[in-house]
Amino acid sequence: MSQIKIATLGLAAAVAVSSALVAAPAFAAGEVKPPKSVHFSFEGPFGTYDRGQLQRGYKVYEQVCAACHSMDLVAFRNLGDPGGPEFSPAEVRVLAAEFPREVVDGPDDLGDMFERPGKPSDYFPPPFPNQAAARASNSGAYPPDFSVIAKARPNGPAYIYSLLVGYEDPPAGMELRDGAYYNSYFPGGQIAMAPPLFDEMVEYTDGTPMTVEQYSKDLSAFLMWTAEPKLEERKRIGFQVMVFLVVLAGLLYFTKKKLWRDVDH
Ligand code: HEC
Repeated sequence: MSQIKIATLGLAAAVAVSSALVAAPAFAAGEVKPPKSVHFSFEGPFGTYDRGQLQRGYKVYEQVCAACHSMDLVAFRNLGDPGGPEFSPAEVRVLAAEFPREVVDGPDDLGDMFERPGKPSDYFPPPFPNQAAARASNSGAYPPDFSVIAKARPNGPAYIYSLLVGYEDPPAGMELRDGAYYNSYFPGGQIAMAPPLFDEMVEYTDGTPMTVEQYSKDLSAFLMWTAEPKLEERKRIGFQVMVFLVVLAGLLYFTKKKLWRDVDH
């Protein structure tokens, strides 16, 4: 009987690993409208990012959201990393140099800070020098940093997508705060961000529809990548570990059988 026990243990370990692989982030229910159900290519145990989608999502970030939202933990060179948008080294140099804001560098020989075009090794320069300046430009609200926001919110990508496509007229009788817009996917229903996207706002050159819905989806996928740049590697290694555990369980089973062959029981 006990060789079966050992094999069972091995399998149990494999099952534990596989369930950890597919576990989705929990959604805290009850407070706000749950996000719309939307499908992304990176879902599931074998899902991967769609390179074209990440590249389009970056374009939307750069041309629209970067005006208010920083991305402090991401460097231009990351845009060329394997498992991400995978821009070529030449493209990354151009994207860094042409980013709408210059990078603050220094001090120079005279002790002064100066601005210069970005290089691949630079981190994304922030839109505001500090939180107070950011609030002052946004009717008191702070546009959160984008580096890990897709992981910092429950069901992040679907939430961000729903928020972006979810602007509506407020229900009859509802008084909005000054500078607030009605959005039932945002906690409290009032958000201090004007609808940031409009159809045809960002030029797509690969034939993908230039709609708010598509921009929102591409941008949400892009933010999932900034929050979890090693997602593809994690899933690949997870699968390899499972294969290893199954083989190991088999080997242990036969080893056990051989070792106990001559013992009476
Ligand atoms: C003009 C400035 C501005 C632009 C441009 C802008 N945002 Fe915002 N955004 C804000 C502000 C301010 C807030 C905070 C709102 C609040 O707390 O009520 C915010 C909040 C958000 C949130 C909510 C985060 C949370 O706390 O749950 C998301 C998501 C978001 N923005 C996404 C985007 C995306 C995507 C774009 C580009 C398509 C974008 N924003 C463009 C100003 C901006």
